[in-house]
Amino acid sequence: MTAAPFALDTPRLILRPLADEDVAAIHRLYADWDVAKTLSRIDHPFTIDAARRFVAEARAAFASGAGYTLAMVERDGGAVVGIVSLRVPSADPAATDEERAADAGLGILGYAVARPHWRRGFASEGARRMVEFAFADLRLDRLQASALRDNPASRRVIERLAFAVAEAGIVEEPRYGGPPRVGDRFVLWRRQTDPSRRR
Ligand SMILES: CC(C)(COP(=O)(O)OP(=O)(O)OC[C@H]1O[C@@H](n2cnc3c(N)ncnc32)[C@H](O)[C@@H]1OP(=O)(O)O)[C@@H](O)C(=O)NCCC(=O)NCCS
Repeated sequence: MTAAPFALDTPRLILRPLADEDVAAIHRLYADWDVAKTLSRIDHPFTIDAARRFVAEARAAFASGAGYTLAMVERDGGAVVGIVSLRVPSADPAATDEERAADAGLGILGYAVARPHWRRGFASEGARRMVEFAFADLRLDRLQASALRDNPASRRVIERLAFAVAEAGIVEEPRYGGPPRVGDRFVLWRRQTDPSRRR
């Protein structure tokens, strides 16, 4: 008997690991400057080779447990509307023992939605399900997310999930170059969301 493939359900989406057939959708997503400009870890211009590398790295990370970069697939029609991701740095095979200890219990949330699908609530729906997975299934104890000061949509997604600013005024340099910009790092603790652990 083979195990069912990994997938997380939401009312309108199926969240499933990236596959080779997603390279074109990933390319369309991140080649759009309006999506790439607020991200710090994406190349710009974003070539089809960069999309292939992105998918290959996501697949390797999924296999090791170091990352869950999931396609958000709309149930109605099957379009890949974006991605939601969770990095688990302590599970990264390249991490040192010190890094592993410092990052134990930590997950790092990310998401991006293709522009034609913005403002339909997909980032919020996908991120909410990923948070539930991180706490209930992986039993992580804290999640981080970062958002630039001038990215109100992203800030709204994490604030609705009850993330709070933990480190204000983080200066970050985008991988594609250009001037540094200011954002904030947000944190959500499992004990805030898990009724069985509330005292
Ligand atoms: C951020 C992003 C993922 C939001 O995706 P989305 O699916 O449109 O988000 P949602 O529809 O779930 O909307 C979330 C909230 O932001 C609000 N919002 C959406 N776009 C907005 C905008 N341009 N300005 C202000 N608020 C906005 C929505 O109204 C909603 O608020 P509500 O809960 O009060 O109704 C999308 O804009 C994107 O991919 N941006 C580029 C990549 C990125 O910045 N990723 C996050 C990195 S930190």
